Amino acid sequence: MAAKGADCFIEITSKSFFYLEEVKRLEKRYFPASERFDFDSELRRSSTKCYCYVREKHGETVERRLPCVLAYAVYSQAKMKKRINKLCVAHEYRRNGYGTSMLHHVIGQICRNLKEGTIDLWVGVLREHAIRCYLKSNFIPMETVRDYYGPERDAIRMVYAIQP
Ligand SMILES: CC(C)(COP(=O)(O)OP(=O)(O)OC[C@H]1O[C@@H](n2cnc3c(N)ncnc32)[C@H](O)[C@@H]1OP(=O)(O)O)[C@@H](O)C(=O)NCCC(=O)NCCS
Repeated sequence: MAAKGADCFIEITSKSFFYLEEVKRLEKRYFPASERFDFDSELRRSSTKCYCYVREKHGETVERRLPCVLAYAVYSQAKMKKRINKLCVAHEYRRNGYGTSMLHHVIGQICRNLKEGTIDLWVGVLREHAIRCYLKSNFIPMETVRDYYGPERDAIRMVYAIQP
């Protein structure tokens, strides 16, 4: 029987064991230790949120369904500083618009009830695909900091202006 599935965004917390393990596995696969996000401690903060884009793949029976994390994003929302800490799409799902959808979803969450302000993020200068993805969603490069992620690992700070 062909697999069928429905996609959805879900918020995950430090108690979402299954999804959190999946996210941590992807994080380990795609980011070097110096860039890895500490989900265990950071998700305990009420100002830090993590969303996943999940596909529920069904096997032959409902009992055998296999939830699958396609993408995830993390943001933090202090009073004066809104920041996207992480955006990642599993390799096999890239170039299908999931990165942009995930990014727009978290921008939407941050901008709820806000009429002005900015959202920023840091991205390694060698992450060309991510930089293009952010530029396409109206993030503007503001500064480059040498050795931000470690020796010879420069990064760019990009900023998005919240529109009323
Ligand atoms: C960056 C990333 C999230 C993009 O996800 P994605 O689902 O492939 O992105 P989208 O399909 O929404 O593409 C959005 C835009 O990004 C750019 N882009 C993404 N992948 C690209 C590629 N392989 N080559 C060229 N441009 C690319 C394009 O401008 C694209 O727009 P287009 O399709 O109209 O040309 C994904 O490549 C990824 O997870 N990379 C590794 C982790 C990472 O670098 N995260 C960011 C640092 S925090």
